[in-house]
Amino acid sequence: MIEKELLKMSQEVSNCSLCELHTERKNAVFGIGNPYAEIMIIGEGPGHDEDLQGVPFVGKSGQLLDKILSACGFTREEHVYIANIVKCRPPKNRDPKPEERDACLPWLFKQISIIRPRILILLGATAVKSLIDPEARITKIRGKWMEWENFLVMPTYHPSALLRNPQLKKDSWEDFKLVVHKYREIIDPEHKAPKVN
Ligand code: URA
Repeated sequence: MIEKELLKMSQEVSNCSLCELHTERKNAVFGIGNPYAEIMIIGEGPGHDEDLQGVPFVGKSGQLLDKILSACGFTREEHVYIANIVKCRPPKNRDPKPEERDACLPWLFKQISIIRPRILILLGATAVKSLIDPEARITKIRGKWMEWENFLVMPTYHPSALLRNPQLKKDSWEDFKLVVHKYREIIDPEHKAPKVN
């Protein structure tokens, strides 16, 4: 059963010491949402609030993400599963180092292979560089559907980038509207989104 497999893996992640990040973590942050969801959202790594609570995207950028999801008619409980490239908080919220990403990625690959979503939403440069291309620029590739390992992938801005630079919100919203349209096309034609026709 999917829940059981994920629970077992989350316990392994809590005990993981494959990279330096484990030394300062309060909690490993495994993932949250519907394990049967057709959409998986992939962020960068836990921040301060996530480290304290052990749950992804619960701080300021998480609140913004929830607002966007709600405008799309998506909830964490039903439509999405959310995880990160690295499961432990990088100190002072620095970017995860390549060796930390490499050490942690097999956990994410395993999560993806258990959940088997149809759509992956990659939030920000770290997710895009880790999964698609180390040289990719988020400004260049956002908003275009890509394929990776037979998954449909939508790269878009990280909510923290939107908080730093609100001018990016318009483009980000265009990207999420594409996700809603694709969701209606391949998963649920009746899907209602309060802000998407
Ligand atoms: N930013 C991320 O990339 N992931 C989180 O879980 C929180 C903030």
